[in-house]
Amino acid sequence: MRTIIVFALVSIVSLLFGDVGKGRAVYEANCAQCHSIHMTGGLGRDFNLVSYTRTKKEIKAYVRDPSREYRKFGYSANAMPTLILTPEEIENVADFIDSLQPFKKWMVTKK
Ligand code: HEC
Repeated sequence: MRTIIVFALVSIVSLLFGDVGKGRAVYEANCAQCHSIHMTGGLGRDFNLVSYTRTKKEIKAYVRDPSREYRKFGYSANAMPTLILTPEEIENVADFIDSLQPFKKWMVTKK
């Protein structure tokens, strides 16, 4: 019985955090050449800033088709290519970016 409970807990925890780990791998293989995560600069914005200012939904939309979204995001030109990723990889990398900043801009109340 105890084994079953432990197994169930491990499964639940891996469901909650598994995506972020996989998303980091997607990030390293597909985004790291242009986007930093330690404010070291690059062609695209650091993902800490993206995490702070964008929703997960916005991040996914951008990765799916930057050429369609760039104006909405405030850019006058689009240099990010449309990457060949599976829907699962997009979901995971968005989870990873989202996890970088637990406190979001829209949660900060103005005084
Ligand atoms: C070849 C360089 C390059 C690669 C690779 C790249 N990006 Fe980008 N990304 C950019 C540039 C440049 C921009 C700025 C807007 C534009 O030019 O489209 C950008 C913008 C973005 C934005 C909007 C940022 C904001 O808040 O305004 C998101 C989200 C994003 N990229 C996610 C990703 C993810 C996720 C990956 C990997 C799966 C990735 N990018 C790979 C260059 C890149």
